[in-house]
Amino acid sequence: SNVTCLPSYSWASNSKSQNPCIVAAILQTVCNDGVFTVNSLPDGYHYIGPRQNDPSTQNVCICSTPVYELMSACADCQNRTFISWSAWSLYCTNFPGIQEGIYNSSIPRSTAIPQWAFEKPSQN
Ligand SMILES: *[C@@H]1O[C@H](CO)[C@@H](O)[C@H](O)[C@H]1NC(C)=O
Repeated sequence: SNVTCLPSYSWASNSKSQNPCIVAAILQTVCNDGVFTVNSLPDGYHYIGPRQNDPSTQNVCICSTPVYELMSACADCQNRTFISWSAWSLYCTNFPGIQEGIYNSSIPRSTAIPQWAFEKPSQN
């Protein structure tokens, strides 16, 4: 990701000084089992979660709240809108065991998940 966050979002960077778009791109690469680019959002657009007609996007990794929150912060830090957790997770119903605040996939050594990304959407 080459997205630049507004300076007021420095709080959202992780311990490696990576902005949420970089962290989201690295995690989404794990979720998608391949390269994943997080592009900047044009005005009026938002990022989406698992897609109805694309089962490969319906997995516990993309359906985790840290991935959702990092993607949302990536939108917010560009002054763009983001969708609710319930909208993001619409096609996550195959994974009834999903718990908010849990990321169960591997975290590449090249990144770190900031603590705020573990907040539970339903509570905060
Ligand atoms: C963010 O977006 C709003 C509404 O489109 C706009 O009024 C505001 O100037 C933008 N802020 C920045 C920092 O770009």
